Amino acid sequence: MSVRSVTLRYADRHLLGIESLSAQEILRILDCARELRSRPDFGASNELAGKSVITLFYEASTRTRISFEIAAHKLGASCTTIDSNSSSVTKGESVWDTGRTLASMDPSVIVSRHQSPGTAHILARAAESVGEQTAIVNAGDGAHEHPTQALLDALTLLDRLETLEGRTIAIIGDIAHSRVARSNLFLLRKLGATVLVGGPRSLVPKSLEHLGGTIGRDPDEIIEVADAVMMLRVQFERLSGPPPFPSLRDYTRTYGLTLARSRRMKPGAFVMHPGPMNRGIEIDPEVADGPTSVVAHQVRNGIACRMAVLQRATGQGPWAEGAA
Ligand code: CP
Repeated sequence: MSVRSVTLRYADRHLLGIESLSAQEILRILDCARELRSRPDFGASNELAGKSVITLFYEASTRTRISFEIAAHKLGASCTTIDSNSSSVTKGESVWDTGRTLASMDPSVIVSRHQSPGTAHILARAAESVGEQTAIVNAGDGAHEHPTQALLDALTLLDRLETLEGRTIAIIGDIAHSRVARSNLFLLRKLGATVLVGGPRSLVPKSLEHLGGTIGRDPDEIIEVADAVMMLRVQFERLSGPPPFPSLRDYTRTYGLTLARSRRMKPGAFVMHPGPMNRGIEIDPEVADGPTSVVAHQVRNGIACRMAVLQRATGQGPWAEGAA
């Protein structure tokens, strides 16, 4: 598929999820990320000089927030981090009012993470209500979407597999609470992959089949046919009661990527994890740090993808008016 540059209308510069992106737009972002990371000094430039990025995280983050901040700095944009614990959020200010207030200061981009699905959409409407300056980038909204994680995962997969057409990718773990699983399902299906989903019945909703996932209950069978195995952690913080499986030891024995289970992977298959990992639960440390793991590569690709997403959000790079 050849990918041409395109100029986006303001409302299309938001990145709220993968669901609404075309395969061509996904490939354009990945091409841009590849081009940026191939430049000297990993794309450091002043291309976004004068632009401003705000990171607004209502939930904890290591990888996503820091890599967005590094991405902004590398492109010459200023970056302001809002700590929701010391902002007027603690006085009960709503997401809508926070969005309108911040957008009134005319930042180029607000990168947001929130525990509730749909928050990025509310922020986008709030930003649109005060002007056409600020693009919203969703860095995770509850169990809904985490689009930049899916983009960096795709870049990592394509670095090894060259195409996703006809490939089989396994996603194993707590799918029910995972925005990473949903965004990956959308993206992988758009780029032609088969997605095999596994985990305890209580954490793998049947509704995933409507998103194009194929539910396979037995992790050993899934692992044997997958080109890549993506392990997800159990999101204990999103469970309202006790874990919906008998014990952690039972979970690891049945669904965890132990060293023994990892030896059942196809030759050349590799292991991914979005992080943070629960070592010893869904993944053994020997696997997480072993030769089949591409976890560190995923993290590095996160910077390149987020640089590309910031270019898109600000109408620069392949999205600049008149770009070749
Ligand atoms: N993968 C991911 O979103 O990690 P953080 O929560 O550390 O940002």
